[in-house]
Amino acid sequence: MKVTVFGSGYVGLVTGACFAEAGNHVVCVDIDANKVARLRQGEIPIHEPGLDLLVTRNFQKGRLQFTTDAEAGIKHGLFLFVAVGTPPEEDGSADLSHVLAVAEIIGRHMTEYRVVVDKSTVPVGTAGKVRERIEQTLGERGVKVEFDVVSNPEFLKEGAAIADFMKPDRVVVGTDDPRAAELLKALYDPFTRSRDRMIVMDVRSAELTKYAANAMLATKISFMNELANLAERMGADIEKVRVGIGSDSRIGFSFIYPGAGYGGSCFPKDVKALVHSAGEYEFDAQLLKSVEAVNKRQKRVLFDKISRYFDGDLRGKTLALWGLAFKPNTDDMREAPARELMEALWKAGAKVRAYDPVAMGEADRIYGKRPDLELAKDADSALKGADALAIVTEWQEFRSPDFAAIRDTLRHPVIFDGRNLYEPAFVKTFGLKYFGIGRGDRLVSAKG
Ligand SMILES: NC(=O)c1ccc[n+]([C@@H]2O[C@H](COP(=O)([O-])OP(=O)(O)OC[C@H]3O[C@@H](n4cnc5c(N)ncnc54)[C@H](O)[C@@H]3O)[C@@H](O)[C@H]2O)c1
Repeated sequence: MKVTVFGSGYVGLVTGACFAEAGNHVVCVDIDANKVARLRQGEIPIHEPGLDLLVTRNFQKGRLQFTTDAEAGIKHGLFLFVAVGTPPEEDGSADLSHVLAVAEIIGRHMTEYRVVVDKSTVPVGTAGKVRERIEQTLGERGVKVEFDVVSNPEFLKEGAAIADFMKPDRVVVGTDDPRAAELLKALYDPFTRSRDRMIVMDVRSAELTKYAANAMLATKISFMNELANLAERMGADIEKVRVGIGSDSRIGFSFIYPGAGYGGSCFPKDVKALVHSAGEYEFDAQLLKSVEAVNKRQKRVLFDKISRYFDGDLRGKTLALWGLAFKPNTDDMREAPARELMEALWKAGAKVRAYDPVAMGEADRIYGKRPDLELAKDADSALKGADALAIVTEWQEFRSPDFAAIRDTLRHPVIFDGRNLYEPAFVKTFGLKYFGIGRGDRLVSAKG
């Protein structure tokens, strides 16, 4: 089948590469000429395991093309996927300007039936706006062309995006049109063979389903962080509590890990956008507001622990920081807790020696050269000359470190672990002080 994907970011590139891998002919359109040029040279602008192989193979076979030419893309694809960014506006609402710009260009160049598929995460009612914009532009041209607008939200996780796309838990399709539903069913069939995983519903429900999924996951995280803060004060260990509740099949183990707060390009913006949408319907989304507020507070927890440990004076201190990406297996630092921590440390007069297995280039792009940030070549060298160690991302390579070496290298033998990677009692046998999240050891200061 012929597919065009607008936007070659995390979602667009994975979508395009996976559809091409199934034998479809895919054209990826992006307005970023530099990105398109890099992709044509086989350079993948993001870190996503397995994506480079998929892109290279399908590009070489001629099934995957990259272009800035929207008109050619619209001519090519029966399916026109919209996978452009929907970043948050100042007020938390989703910025739809990129989505509507694509709708406009589709209206300008469409000459025969097309299925326009909203894959970007967009507020309820956006498919209607996309339809209106296309109709308006067609009207300006004085032509009538048939088309459908379908909602097909994406649920992939960065870091496991290929597997998620190739073997999705479900494919949600929002449409009232049986023809569009049939076409999408045919397109997704290779990915849903073991059982029918396509859930067809009305457009507005499909749009809300995406927000509901992310809001639910964010809620689980904030709930556990709230409980972790309580456990810390009550002398309980949240890790024991986690196992105690996760074993209840009604609760389950996924997404109940306490930590340094959720980040990334999706949860923070989607929770904010849903709160904002609720307001437009004159509904006060109290739970969602709290999810957001708890997360905001949680992103300060590591800094507060570090600050308390050093009696509120971090001037001249150097912190080794392990992990910059918002989660493992990605170089994405959008809204990453590490950024919040670093920026708070800098504000307090401390320096940072940071290491991340893949996000160093991204950190350099965001912060550039500055005297209070040093990007270390590996985890061990980040420790050199540092007063203490803070862990913000749960990369596999941080899970079994040489604790004796950490103790001997740091000026103060102390670890602040924002991801609860270790067993406190074990770490302490090395003569290290260890502060996790919610482990029943509320810290007042180094002396306290
Ligand atoms: N990243 C994720 O894990 C994830 C998961 C599910 C859903 N989503 C949603 O998918 C959408 C895309 O997210 P992303 O992370 O891939 O974004 P991204 O920022 O990585 O990529 C967006 C791309 O769209 C391009 N673009 C902007 N305007 C364009 C236009 N008019 N025509 C063609 N290209 C254009 C940009 O240049 C950029 O390359 C968002 O709505 C996001 O919420 C993201």
